Amino acid sequence: MYLDTNGVILRHFTFKSSLLPITTHSRRSYANTHRSTSTGATMTTTFSTQNESTQQTQKPVQVAKRLEKFKTTIFTQMSILGVKHGAINLGQGFPNFDGPDFIKEAAVQAIKDGKNQYARAYGVPELNSAISTRFQEDTGLVVDPEKEVTVTSGCTEAIAASMLGLINPGDEVILFAPFYDSYEATLSMAGAKIKGITLRPPDFSIPLEELKAAFTKNTRAILMNTPHNPTGKMFTREELETIASLCIENDVLVFSDEVYDKLAFEMDHISIASLPGMYERTVTMNSLGKTFSLTGWKIGWAIAPPHLTWGVRQAHSYLTFATSTPAQWAAIAALKAPESYYKELKRDYAAKKEILVKGLKEVGFTVFPSSGTYFVTADHTPFGLENDIAFCEYLIEEVGVVAIPTSVFYLNPEEGKNLVRFAFCKDEDTLRGAIERMKQKLKSKV
Ligand SMILES: Cc1ncc(COP(=O)(O)O)c(C=O)c1O
Repeated sequence: MYLDTNGVILRHFTFKSSLLPITTHSRRSYANTHRSTSTGATMTTTFSTQNESTQQTQKPVQVAKRLEKFKTTIFTQMSILGVKHGAINLGQGFPNFDGPDFIKEAAVQAIKDGKNQYARAYGVPELNSAISTRFQEDTGLVVDPEKEVTVTSGCTEAIAASMLGLINPGDEVILFAPFYDSYEATLSMAGAKIKGITLRPPDFSIPLEELKAAFTKNTRAILMNTPHNPTGKMFTREELETIASLCIENDVLVFSDEVYDKLAFEMDHISIASLPGMYERTVTMNSLGKTFSLTGWKIGWAIAPPHLTWGVRQAHSYLTFATSTPAQWAAIAALKAPESYYKELKRDYAAKKEILVKGLKEVGFTVFPSSGTYFVTADHTPFGLENDIAFCEYLIEEVGVVAIPTSVFYLNPEEGKNLVRFAFCKDEDTLRGAIERMKQKLKSKV
């Protein structure tokens, strides 16, 4: 029995080696290990209910068509299995250490000062200003905090509000695979047609000719993420310029998720909005969580010219209306952090990355270069397991370490079956402990 992200109890009845519930959606299932059913999710496959007593009713699960192909997120599944086996969790992408005291104190102060009622829908004015100041420092672009910045409940809501507010059913949206899992679900909710472009190892560079060919007269937008989860790839200036010229030529919008912008190690982060002619067609999305190790606060934002901000705000108004007031006040303090904060953050993460990458190589993985984020991807095939899910199950159950199978980040899971993602947003002892376990127990099965 598993809890999903909403605390709903999920029971998985039939699969054995697989963690994934069987669904109607065969595209997401490996041919042999994850059989699909054409009859839909029923009591024999996945069962979801609010509490134990209602499980007796044995009713088929219900979900709207636009979401029926999506399952409990892989992060939840792996973490729960990890807890069961006492595994060290290098799967889920949140720090196992706390955010800075000065931000937490600002939140406590805001609560004590009575900043506890609904905030203005599109953000506490001082926070909108702090976001526009940071954006100007980072990109050189001057944006009006009142007309071009919308505060949302995390970047996740910025993504949802942008899709729902600016995409019409049937619009084509180009998406780079692998991708952060909320993109596909949100695009599905918006009724978009997804066109996937796959980024391939070792460098996950954009296949520019394939990208050009993907643009049609129905292309409404491209959804991108740099630095990129799960690969750690950062889009180069040349790649960004190609995307920009294609978008200008074809009058296409860009949704750019930049939540890892401050975790850029090997090169400087470039916001596509800062390229000539791009600001007017770009929604730049970001949040506090990764930069300040406060992923649970869910303060995010979308920056876009007024004509696009209108759509984002319309959706935001009816999704959440406003986000946590005291956390917004604390976010103002966060965004005023001195440059030294960001330098230290990078220094810390560079040291963690070094421990993980060196360790994984010593264990026998092929580790792909990661320029940003707090993730690295590695090829697990030297160990002889049939695919990424089988490998991650083995890693949890026999070795005691959680990683994330990357096939869930692809439209075609086959494309990710050789890769697993490790997170290094963990204290150094945890990282060393995980490496030690792998050195001792991870044996080649070939
Ligand atoms: C690429 C990417 N975008 C967005 C998010 C979610 O951000 P938030 O927690 O601010 O909603 C994540 C979280 O893992 C992410 O990896």
